[in-house]
Amino acid sequence: MHQSKPFTATKRHTSLSRKKPRNHHRLTVSATSTFEKTNPYTEELKATAKYISQRGRGILASDESNATTGKRLDSVNVENTEINRRDWRQLLYTAPGLGQYISGAIMFEETLYQSASDGVQFVDILKKQGILPGIKVDTGLQNLPGSDGETSTQGIDNLASRCEAYYKQGARFAKWRAVLRINEKGGPSTQAILENAHGLARYAQIAQSAGLVPIVEPEVTLGPGNYSIEETAYWSERVYSHVFRLLNEYDVMLEGILLKPNMCLPGLDAPTASPADVAKYTTRTMMRSIPPSVPGIHFLSGGMSEEESTLNLQALQEACPNAPWSLTFSYGRALQSATLKTWGGKKENWDAAQKILVALAEANSKAQLGQFKGPHPVPGGGRILQALRTGGAGK
Ligand code: 13P
Repeated sequence: MHQSKPFTATKRHTSLSRKKPRNHHRLTVSATSTFEKTNPYTEELKATAKYISQRGRGILASDESNATTGKRLDSVNVENTEINRRDWRQLLYTAPGLGQYISGAIMFEETLYQSASDGVQFVDILKKQGILPGIKVDTGLQNLPGSDGETSTQGIDNLASRCEAYYKQGARFAKWRAVLRINEKGGPSTQAILENAHGLARYAQIAQSAGLVPIVEPEVTLGPGNYSIEETAYWSERVYSHVFRLLNEYDVMLEGILLKPNMCLPGLDAPTASPADVAKYTTRTMMRSIPPSVPGIHFLSGGMSEEESTLNLQALQEACPNAPWSLTFSYGRALQSATLKTWGGKKENWDAAQKILVALAEANSKAQLGQFKGPHPVPGGGRILQALRTGGAGK
């Protein structure tokens, strides 16, 4: 029997290793994709993502469609007209001092092109506050045939030309929301996970090629049922891992994206989890599935109360003080609900409503820095259920 000699780092071995390797193919593989090398926006995308995810700041999600905005306005007896939608967004974007805590605002298409009552464009008002304008680019959900209420997100058609136009109008980042469901019967099907991961990856590639930082939002949505926080963590990890595999397949540059996930929470019919438990499972899920090259993880509020959203964000920093990403917020309902109720469509409540918005943004900014000690500007309160039925800001 042939006896192979034990390996020693002899001269022969060293010189051999200097010879041209037989597998030429290996040398042509580079850690930088052709897309990243040739995209004229590569450096800008990195800078934009870094800006938005800077510590102590987060995103105001205000990209509700006209129909969803109408439902929100209706809850305070304000009619759903273009002027009223404009007034509501004007209240949000002109709140004095908002830019100290908010680095980006996501808008619906109508709002991106709108101006305040004095004629100044919203994009300019935001930029003056140091807030980058963003745009929701998906066009909503479609049922997956034969599934139990599972969906695919629409909007790839014309996405490239729409993104180019949004960039020209001043948008610097985009959002695409994919929804995955858990219920007592189990988690999302493999078909739904793959379909949504594929959609997110394709969208992210197109957005990056037009200079928009894609917010990748695989929302494992908080739904009815008595399922546990462990189940949410299990399914979330599975979903995010597939999403990142597909982002890699599509050469999406991870330094130029932002992730918008859910926190891990138990089902709506299960007892509420403590902030420490939410933080334990959420950070474990992130550590297992989100590469450190992603600059920011901007959680959605997903129906949590204003205070719950802040306390959970604070707990995340305590559970993961040296997180490689900024663990921060992209809240819709948790910033807007109390603001809207305080305004109620009345001129005399305008200043008070703006103050509530800025106080909520400040509380979450402190929580991002791990410095929130209370009291909370909107204490107590249950889940924002009315809004939950109609979905998050991105609907
Ligand atoms: P919520 O914070 O209300 O969940 O909305 C965030 C969002 O943009 C969902 O797409």
